[in-house]
Amino acid sequence: MKEKNVLQIDSLVIDYSNKHFGLFRRNHTRAVNGISFSLHKGEILGVLGESGSGKSSLLKAICRFIPIQKGRIFIDEIDVTSFSNKKFFPYRKKIQLIPQDFCDIFNPKMTVKRILTEPLDVHFPYLTSRKKETRIIELLESVELDRSLLERFPSQLSGGQRQRLSIARGLAVEPELLMCDEIISASDLYTQKQILLLLQNLNRKKNIAILFVSHNIAVVSHLCHNIIVMRKGKVLDSGTPYEICKTPKSLYVQLLLDSVPKIKAI
Ligand SMILES: Nc1ncnc2c1ncn2[C@@H]1O[C@H](COP(=O)(O)OP(=O)(O)O)[C@@H](O)[C@H]1O
Ligand SMILES: [Mg+2]
Repeated sequence: MKEKNVLQIDSLVIDYSNKHFGLFRRNHTRAVNGISFSLHKGEILGVLGESGSGKSSLLKAICRFIPIQKGRIFIDEIDVTSFSNKKFFPYRKKIQLIPQDFCDIFNPKMTVKRILTEPLDVHFPYLTSRKKETRIIELLESVELDRSLLERFPSQLSGGQRQRLSIARGLAVEPELLMCDEIISASDLYTQKQILLLLQNLNRKKNIAILFVSHNIAVVSHLCHNIIVMRKGKVLDSGTPYEICKTPKSLYVQLLLDSVPKIKAI
């Protein structure tokens, strides 16, 4: 039986308008130019593309942080494109964005405990304090963080621990889809491997769908069930990692494959 679509994007267009000071004219950058794809429950979809190809804009528009010019967005097979913010609220918790820059989501003055309590207060206000505390411990365990970190501030955590915390924060509202924007790009290889394993486990155990954005073809091929390749706001190619890597349809994918560092035989 086919799993339901958690997310479906139809012909999405996103523009940024750029104001030119001193000149009475505006122009615009088309960040996303007519993209369509869908993602079903339990699927890991990779969005692969070089810097500037429109990946972050796509995720921000799905979360309504930026407006779209054209197209439709379906969450849980419901067209939410023209929903008011109030009507969209229950859908907001189904999709959680883990941004590239953790500074965007962590208030440096909040402890780990406060950071994890906040989304529970917003989306599960009826939970008692005791239930929230139990939930926070479960969240820490699900991302393999020690509970002794609860009273620490983000600046007192390692990069890998901050990444795990941002995933725990995303998981707090029990989403159906985690959208990870280049979350391992700045990490050392060991941390990258640990985070990839964590995402794989979350996907297998909780059947959470993951939209995994990266410029690294090796990482995306390793983790994802399916891949779309983006360039200049458009989809160049899509398929399984095997299809994409075995018979690249575009020179661009071939270049990405050639750019993967190889260890020289000694
Ligand atoms: N706030 C913004 N204002 C104007 N242009 C932007 C803004 N954010 C991104 N862009 C432009 O949109 C395009 C896509 O950017 P982005 O979505 O960040 O790509 P990626 O995440 O793939 O690196 C780029 O050309 C970028 O310069
Ligand atoms: Mg980006």
